[in-house]
Amino acid sequence: MSQSINFKRHRRLRSSNAMRSMVREHHLRTEDFIYPIFVIEGENIKSEVPSMPGVYQLSFDLLLDEVKEVFELGIRSVIFFGVVSEKDEIGTGAFAEDGIIQQATRLVKKEFPELLVVADTCLCEYTSHGHCGVIHNHDVDNDESLQLLAKTAVSQAEAGADIIAPSNMMDGFVAVIRQALDEAGYSHIPIMSYAVKYASAYYGPFRDAADSTPQFGDRKTYQMDPANRLEALREAESDVAEGADFLIVKPAMSYLDIVREVRDNFNLPVVAYNVSGEYSMVKAAAQNGWIDEKALVMEKLTSMKRAGADLIITYFAKDVAKWLKEDN
Ligand code: PBG
Ligand code: ZN
Repeated sequence: MSQSINFKRHRRLRSSNAMRSMVREHHLRTEDFIYPIFVIEGENIKSEVPSMPGVYQLSFDLLLDEVKEVFELGIRSVIFFGVVSEKDEIGTGAFAEDGIIQQATRLVKKEFPELLVVADTCLCEYTSHGHCGVIHNHDVDNDESLQLLAKTAVSQAEAGADIIAPSNMMDGFVAVIRQALDEAGYSHIPIMSYAVKYASAYYGPFRDAADSTPQFGDRKTYQMDPANRLEALREAESDVAEGADFLIVKPAMSYLDIVREVRDNFNLPVVAYNVSGEYSMVKAAAQNGWIDEKALVMEKLTSMKRAGADLIITYFAKDVAKWLKEDN
């Protein structure tokens, strides 16, 4: 090629593993992950969720083994979801002192005080109708649900939860929970708000796992319309004003533009929730031999970091922690 032609040689910085590694801009760290665990009543239960290969519902007696494995892999945070058979109209199980999440939290914090327990604060796993709040006139009543949510948050803090993560998408949930926590003596406990949560078809497998499918209608009056971007900024803005300490964007994969918007417009840690459907799609393709699972998962989660996520809630956390160890 003639020397007179002037062009950039970008390939210089891609010439070897060492060179690529030197100029790499974004990295996955095991400390970035929050690992979701489904806790179920009963004994000696380790039941694989059919639509989520590799993800289990675990009873208390098996929970500690799982948490030990997670902790030894270097993961420093888990988020619990409860699976219960007894449900009622208002989701009493969510805020019962001996509720499943409260018990699981006490147990795990006693054995692993350094592990951060994030409590998902919602009612849908405990309501007979499967909605995230109290139903009046076939819709979720915002303000009445807030009171129950605040009670749930306080009971989770009492059980030892390190972070409260409200997910029911009622207006004002951060304000009401912040006030309730402060009044109960938990002003030091941060709120990780599901600030931007879309009404998404990607949640299907989770609802199998948590037995939380709405028995009528859908969640579109409280979760966001996937077509909206400005609305995400309004949701994040109000949660910041109400005192949120972290902002979650959920789902992650189809919403990386929103992760970037939230990263650029606010200065709190941003959490991407790599949800159940995103996990199951990869697992299904991998089981069919259609994709290289490790390469694809690393690419996908790295793209979340590149989009601006500081933390990632992901069912792949254990797999990635193992892969990161192997590669070092
Ligand atoms: C509801 C809730 C959902 C998820 C966690 N908590 C969504 C929903 O059922 O509407 C989904 C998580 C996932 O899909 O991994 N409070
Ligand atoms: Zn819910």
